[in-house]
Amino acid sequence: MSRDEEKMRAAKRAVGFIEDGQIVGLGTGSTASHAITMIARRVQGGLWVRGVPTSNVTERLARDAGIELLSLNEVDHIDVTLDGADEIDPDFNMIKGGGGALAREKLVAVASKKRIIMVDSSKLMRKLGSHFPVPVEVLPFGSKVAARALESVGCSPKLREVNGSPFVTDNMNWILDCATGLMDDPAGLEMAIKQINGVVECGLFSKLADVLVVGGQDGATVIEAGSGNLDLFDWR
Ligand code: A5P
Repeated sequence: MSRDEEKMRAAKRAVGFIEDGQIVGLGTGSTASHAITMIARRVQGGLWVRGVPTSNVTERLARDAGIELLSLNEVDHIDVTLDGADEIDPDFNMIKGGGGALAREKLVAVASKKRIIMVDSSKLMRKLGSHFPVPVEVLPFGSKVAARALESVGCSPKLREVNGSPFVTDNMNWILDCATGLMDDPAGLEMAIKQINGVVECGLFSKLADVLVVGGQDGATVIEAGSGNLDLFDWR
């Protein structure tokens, strides 16, 4: 089964959690895009929800699909957010931001009562840091100062580029993709990175997943944070 098929199965299961009248955080990335298409189908069938998008790309996709939208500043809470991840560990710590939307994704996650993370099986890691770098959004003005400070906390930062120019986030900032090696203390590293001057947000998300949905051969498996059952999965 392809990774995209697993993502679709995870998205289908996660979209089933959404209830009429809810305010729904809409994540960014290919898995979140599948979910948005499926939410739109439910809306066409009579479901009433309002979405809070985590990126300009998601905003366009959701609006074109006919989902009513609100900005984060127009709501006092979000009922449920559906988003993807680049890596997730058995403690539900994550690396996010492969699509560059980490700052808005984290704000929406923080404002959400229930965070549902949808992944294909390749995202399950015993320890974070083996495959994906940690994206760190920085102010362009101070990117070199921030890069030196990131090195001092054990990261190897590399400016994300597109066609030879810096990738620019929706917030008009740049991203330093930071190789870290295997992490023993993701929450500690997140705190250390967040204290660096010029850092806007860090793509380490600790304690920001409540439900994990993994697509696979038999549809999708759902695990709530703290419920055990982690041996259902093959963590890499
Ligand atoms: C977007 O900035 C990211 O956090 C995505 O949620 C993450 O990269 C997962 O992306 P895919 O669903 O495309 O694998």
